[in-house]
Parts: sequence; structure tokens; C-alpha cells
Amino acid sequence: MALDHHRVQSVVAEIADEMRARTDRGEVAGYIPELSKVDPGQFGIAVADDQGFVIAAGDSETAFSVQSITKVFTLTLALGIAGDTLWRRVGREPSGSPFNSIVQLEFERGIPRNPFINAGAIAVTDLILSGHQPREALGEILRFIQFVADDPTIRIDEAVAASEQRTGERNRALAYYMKSFGIMENPVEYTLGVYFHHCAIAMTCRQLALAGRFLAYGGRQPSTGRTVVNPERARRINALMLTCGHYDGSGDFAYRVGLPGKSGVGGGILAIAPGQASIAVWSPGLDAAGNSHLGRIALELLTKRLGWSIF
Ligand code: DON
Repeated sequence: MALDHHRVQSVVAEIADEMRARTDRGEVAGYIPELSKVDPGQFGIAVADDQGFVIAAGDSETAFSVQSITKVFTLTLALGIAGDTLWRRVGREPSGSPFNSIVQLEFERGIPRNPFINAGAIAVTDLILSGHQPREALGEILRFIQFVADDPTIRIDEAVAASEQRTGERNRALAYYMKSFGIMENPVEYTLGVYFHHCAIAMTCRQLALAGRFLAYGGRQPSTGRTVVNPERARRINALMLTCGHYDGSGDFAYRVGLPGKSGVGGGILAIAPGQASIAVWSPGLDAAGNSHLGRIALELLTKRLGWSIF
């Protein structure tokens, strides 16, 4: 269905104004030192359609650290490599626990609950790495994101990667713990190096909204017409985003926004309105579950005002 550009433009501009005026902005992620320096007063939004048309407002051209949003792209790549055998290493159930929790790993014998919690994304990264040098695996992830966004300028923010590499004890604990169950195939530090670097990819709202379009349009990248995944796989990735994309805030996100979404601790959220649009919002302040506070509110207003929901 073609987007009513006029209507979307006025709603997006209205929401950006409302978000600018709000004083409740959440807390910027403090556990990655480089992210704690980001100004919480920023807000951006971009909506991309199947023609590559982008409707944007606020700080939509400012690059931010996409962090866990890359887990959507690494999952897509890993499914391309391993198909459904991926599900031997990682589950498909919501965790009901924080994104960096270790508690379920012992009960579930090192198999992470889903590919979006840190443990799951580290296991997925390990699968992408199999048999390659870390630099090659990272190059493959970055090129894939550049391809789906149709933008070769997307880069890794090396300062963010180095900052997390220095302070990533929790992720190291998760990775070594999984290794003890035989889940990790590569040297743990190699897998973590690739993981920290793909989390540090920087994108603007515009680039991220464009990158999400294959999920909104049945697996096809509309600017090139190339198939990224088949429609069934796109539907399944969307299902995982809906059920697990916001960690223990996933139920609330589905309730309020009504769309599949994936958050990152950089304050970005990618949301998919199947058949209608791919949406990216960014505001660095987070809520208690580690998801963008104003980003979620903005998406709730957007879907309410435009009547977008999968339900
Ligand atoms: O591994 C970490 O903790 C970060 N690189 C990514 C976590 C994240 O983005 C969780 N999302 N809300």
C-alpha cells in the first residue's frame, strides 16, 4: 500500500516537536563509557517506504551507535548460513530477563533463550565467524548492512568498539560460560571482538529505516529488487522482533506500539510496519529495561496516529 506522504510527514514532524519539548528523557547507558558521553537531548525519527522515500524529522541525520539493533542483521545472516540448524544453538522464546542476564544459561545448558539477548547474539556471531578470520566475518556483517541499507558509507565507530572491548566483562562471562557447555566453536576472544565491533556500527535514523525495509516488504530489498530472504523468513524474523526485540520490555512494547521492533542501548529502535514502512527512532536516554524511553513513546504515538499495527 502506498504511503500517504503528506499525512506521515505531518505526524512525524508533530512527534519530533513533542519529543523535543519533553523533559523525561531516561538515562543514557553508563556501562559502555563511550556511550555515556552522548547528549540525551537528541531525538530523531525516519520512516522509509518501498520507493526509498524517507520522511524524517529531528536529529535524523546524526549517526548513533546501533548496538543491539545489529542483532537483527546478524540473525538474518546466520539464518542464511545455517538455515534452521541455527535453532540448535539458540532458542526462540522471550527471556523475561535483562538483555545481559546469565541466570537462564545454567538451567538451559548453555543454550541462550533467543538471538537478541546478548548471550544469543554472541552465539549467533560465533556461527557467522566459523572458519573465518574475525576481520572477514566483521566485513561480511558490515557489507550486509551496507547492502540492505543501500549505503556503502556506513561505518564502525572504533572508539565505541574499543570502549566496550575494555569494559565487556559481563559479555566475556556469558561467552566463556557458553563455551563451558560446548556452545562456542571459535576462540572466545575472536567471537567477542566481532560482537563488540558489530554492536559499534553507527547509523543515522535515515540509514537504519532504509536498512529495515527488507523486513517490511516480504524479504525484498526494494531499491535493488534483490531478495534478501524469502517472505517466510522475513515473517519469522519479525515474529522474533515482536516477542524478544525489547527483552523484558517486549510485552509492553507490543502492547503499546503493536509492531515488531528491535532496540539498542545506543537509544535506537527499528520498528517494522509490514507492507507499509520501516521506521527508525533514536533518543539516547533509556528506560529501566534498557530500551529508548522517548523512542518507545514516539513509536506509540506514531502507530496510534497513523493506525499502524499488526493486530
Ligand atoms: O553487549 C552489549 O551489552 C551491547 N553491545 C549491546 C546491548 C544492547 O544494545 C541491548 N539493547 N537494548
